Amino acid sequence: MRIGFIGDVVGKPGRDMINVHLKALREEFGIDFVIANTENASHGFGLSVKNANELFGMGIDMMTGGNHTWDRKDIVEVLDILPILRPYNLPSSVAGRGAEIVDINGSKLGIINLMGHFSMPMCDNPFIKAKEAVAFVKEQGAKAVFIDFHAESTSEKAALLAMLKDEVSAIIGTHTHIGTDDLKIDEGTLFLSDIGLSGCRDGVIGVDEKAPINRFLTGLPFAFEIPKNCKKIFQMVIFEIDDGVCMDAFKIKIYDDKEREITKALHE
Ligand SMILES: [Fe+2]
Ligand SMILES: [Fe+2]
Repeated sequence: MRIGFIGDVVGKPGRDMINVHLKALREEFGIDFVIANTENASHGFGLSVKNANELFGMGIDMMTGGNHTWDRKDIVEVLDILPILRPYNLPSSVAGRGAEIVDINGSKLGIINLMGHFSMPMCDNPFIKAKEAVAFVKEQGAKAVFIDFHAESTSEKAALLAMLKDEVSAIIGTHTHIGTDDLKIDEGTLFLSDIGLSGCRDGVIGVDEKAPINRFLTGLPFAFEIPKNCKKIFQMVIFEIDDGVCMDAFKIKIYDDKEREITKALHE
């Protein structure tokens, strides 16, 4: 199975890049299934039901979230219905689910969304809950397992790989909005600390620079804005899983004003 994963989609610029490029990329690279973290898709905060339906229509099959999942109240009502995950390591009484099994060309893929502990809202231990989630999807027959680890710290992400690399097919980090350059396949498990945002690549992690600068200068709250005009980027990792093992992967970066770039994963 060939999977595409897109990191944090930030606001309309991110949705626009997906609208322009995703269907053509699915065709060009024969992608069977696309997962995207959409926690910032609606003006940088959360995901509205309207924007979720638009994004499904643009070629996304499954969405993941993180600390911003709860920013739009209307999405909470449909988390149990639509293919949208929220972090697994929240109390089971919380709406939605953090793991799901999907059928792709007759093979089962387990998809898990976890949230890190460092600099994040209160959540259960992601490492203990990761083991539970992996066991859950494997019990249901998923040999291939993908984790979106939504976390601030690279050490948490690297430690999750070290703990789970014999058991899962891919771990890709989200949340920081800045892509890291450590794309690798470590003994059959794909890993990238952070894939980086799709949206505005100038400004501060997808938002206009004025509010972040004023926040840092004064310590006071200023409302974040998504720029109407900006330099845009679309970032996706495309990877092939066979019998639970990641065989090959590359990252594609598409700009609105430059040639696209492709980086192949290092095989370790
Ligand atoms: Fe984010
Ligand atoms: Fe986040």
